[in-house]
This record gives sequence, C-alpha cells and structure tokens, in this order.
Amino acid sequence: MINSISKVLDELEIQSTLEKSRKKDVLHEDRMLAITKETGELINMILRLKNAKNMLEVGMSTGYSTIWCAEVIAEQSGKIITIEQNPSKIKRAKENFQRAGVMDTVIIKEGLAMQILTEFSLHQKYKDFFDFVLIDADKENVIEYFDLIFPMISIGGVIVTDNMLYPEQFRQDMKKFSEHLKDNPKLHTITSPIGNGEEITIKLK
Ligand SMILES: C[S@@+](CC[C@H](N)C(=O)[O-])C[C@H]1O[C@@H](n2cnc3c(N)ncnc32)[C@H](O)[C@@H]1O
Repeated sequence: MINSISKVLDELEIQSTLEKSRKKDVLHEDRMLAITKETGELINMILRLKNAKNMLEVGMSTGYSTIWCAEVIAEQSGKIITIEQNPSKIKRAKENFQRAGVMDTVIIKEGLAMQILTEFSLHQKYKDFFDFVLIDADKENVIEYFDLIFPMISIGGVIVTDNMLYPEQFRQDMKKFSEHLKDNPKLHTITSPIGNGEEITIKLK
C-alpha cells in the first residue's frame, strides 16, 4: 500500500478506536462512525477482485472507508462518488484525502442522500454504471437507498451495506432490510459477520 495512504488510515484508526472506547469525548455529530479495519480490508479486496472503476458511497463521514477504496479505484483510473450531508465532516475528509494523495479519485456530493440518489436515478448515464456501492448512512432509509441504487449497479456489481449486526440500535431497520432482499431473484446476498456485520449483495443477470 502507498505510504501516504497507510499513514492516514493508521491515524484515522487510532482516532476511531479512541472515539469508540469513549476515551476521547466527541460530540455525536463530529464522530467518525467509521467502518472497522477488517471491513476496510474486505471492501478493498472485493474492489480488487472486480477491477472496479466506478464506485458510489453513501455516507462518507471523514473519509476513512473512502480511502480504503480509493487505493484500488485510483489504480484503475476510476472515480468514487461519495455522498455526505455534514459540512464539517466534508472539510475533514478533504484534508484526509489531500494527505493520503487520493483527492483526484474522489468526487464529493454534499447533501441529502435521498435527494442526490433520486437525481442520479433520473440520469440515463448512471443506469448499470457502478461496479461497487457502499451503503453506510442513516439506517432508517436503507431500503429506499438500496432500491434507488439497484438499477444503477452493473450486472455482477456488488453492494456492501454496513451495520447489519451492530450496533444493536440498528437491528430492527437492518432486519427489515434483510427481509427486503430475501427472495429477490435479481440478486444473491449474504450477511457476513466481519466488522459490524456486512451485507454483501451481488446483482445477477
Ligand atoms: C456511519 S457514518 C459513515 C462512515 C464512513 N463510511 C466511514 O467508514 O468512514 C454515516 C455518515 O452518513 C452521513 N449521513 C447520515 N444521514 C445522511 C443523509 N440522509 N444524507 C447524507 N449523509 C448522511 C452522516 O453525516 C455520517 O457522516
């Protein structure tokens, strides 16, 4: 891994661990709420297996997950479009991208995920466009996000959804999401216990 990327990932992991252990007091709206390192490794590997070029992320926060992905997407000369509503997190993410040297790989869309995804869904350009999507924003809208995103995924494209198992406060929303995916003949899906529980969904022909 490029030095500048691993250095920033290491720093953000320390910050995330302090935050999660409550050793550092951080206001809720300023929390990274990042995926785990294992989830970062998992999505990095899926992107590599797929030679992914076009990626979408819903819920960027300060860019930890985005940087895990940018390492691979940059090698493919691809782009990550990432959505975030919180301006102060966007500022921190931009600083992190700059330091990691991945700024040119990332396109930040500032605003509400529902609105941005709805706009994208109306563009012919995005039909079957993305090779990989990470869904990691508010959980109450996860079904709506998935349904807007699904037509924008290429055949064989992968959607990873975080927080299927933890924290427990999301269990009910994520259970409904699991039910929603079940029996859909256009996809295969598994719930992996890696990290906070990752739903890995592949779009079939
Ligand atoms: C769990 S965090 C994302 C963590 C990030 N993927 C990572 O691993 O570093 C969720 C982020 O989604 C953002 N978010 C929540 N609801 C949103 C919405 N409706 N539209 C856009 N962003 C939203 C939050 O501000 C927060 O930064």
